[in-house]
Amino acid sequence: MSDFKLQTPAGDSVIRIGVDVLSELKRYVDKKHPDSKVAVVTDANVGELYREQISAKLPGAMTLAIQPGEGSKRLESVKQLTENLLEAGLTRTDIIVGMGGGMITDLAGFVASVYMRGVKFISIPTSLLGMVDASIGGKTGVNLVAKNSLGTIYPAELILIDPNFLDTLPARDLKTGMAEVVKYALTLDASLLNDLSKTELDYVTIIEKSVGAKVAIVSQDVMETDVRKALNFGHTFGHAIEAHSGYNLTHGEAISIGMILANQVARKLERQTADVMPKTKELLERFGLPSEIPKGIKVEELAPLMMNDKKMSGNKLTFIIVPEIGKFETVEMGVEELIDLAA
Ligand SMILES: NC(=O)c1ccc[n+]([C@@H]2O[C@H](COP(=O)([O-])OP(=O)(O)OC[C@H]3O[C@@H](n4cnc5c(N)ncnc54)[C@H](O)[C@@H]3O)[C@@H](O)[C@H]2O)c1
Ligand SMILES: [Zn+2]
Repeated sequence: MSDFKLQTPAGDSVIRIGVDVLSELKRYVDKKHPDSKVAVVTDANVGELYREQISAKLPGAMTLAIQPGEGSKRLESVKQLTENLLEAGLTRTDIIVGMGGGMITDLAGFVASVYMRGVKFISIPTSLLGMVDASIGGKTGVNLVAKNSLGTIYPAELILIDPNFLDTLPARDLKTGMAEVVKYALTLDASLLNDLSKTELDYVTIIEKSVGAKVAIVSQDVMETDVRKALNFGHTFGHAIEAHSGYNLTHGEAISIGMILANQVARKLERQTADVMPKTKELLERFGLPSEIPKGIKVEELAPLMMNDKKMSGNKLTFIIVPEIGKFETVEMGVEELIDLAA
């Protein structure tokens, strides 16, 4: 087991990466919160695969399974879970565990933050995206009209990451998480390039380095007023592309294209070394992610979608570029200007 500690004004998290995390969870609860009941919130896919393990390792825990998919990250699920938790008698001193992909850890974290004004929350991410990104840093939420329009900052007190869960993760979901790892390699930790070029990927190391990069950033800026914006590399265009595709592209596929466009902008501004673009493309291709702008996407059509970006302040947004591999810079720019540079 390797440990990280994430300290923020919103609360602290211990992040533990290792195997057999359900036994680890049992040990932790028995030691720290022996009188607390545990409610595991999961989705039906993960529930189906791991129900037996959950009940064998956490006897006495209740398991609530939500329908899989982003469509379940909504207020109706908050209502349903709250009703179920009330019926089961979960009290203020009990624990909610979110076990699943980012949809579940966002939803369960949101419920934990508002149920009885906040109960203990533990996260067990089971998708790569969840392990390297969604479960770390305290952002919780549901979608209402817009993505993540309702949410809280409520760091899990414990995050348990077991790379073995990836064995059952569908290939397209694995790829989407890989796009975030490529983002960390390009913006924050160039040493990941070496790990990503190995024939046999060492997921433990890849996850450790990605978590380390995110922890380093979030511990400085949990509210995303400053350095946390670095994590938006590829996301300004990416979110617009995701919406433009009617969500037929996954988040990872969309941000891959977003990273290419961000590199195009940096190159036009003459603020990027020549090796960044070919390296980005090589990595994306290696993981079966798009490395070209699809023919169906006209960059100009992204403008209205980018105007909706939560990150806009006035008519400018903070755009992240990679001047050289492993580094990031911010540029303040209007959407039109950005579109001109990317096209
Ligand atoms: N809070 C944050 O900081 C943050 C950051 C990034 C993304 N997110 C959120 O994360 C969500 C996307 O996360 P995601 O890509 O994990 O999606 P997801 O939770 O929908 O999971 C993707 C699919 O994989 C399945 N799955 C998960 N783990 C599995 C396993 N081990 N074996 C088999 N199937 C498994 C799920 O059932 C689902 O069908 C979005 O809602 C996004 O907004 C949050
Ligand atoms: Zn992302």
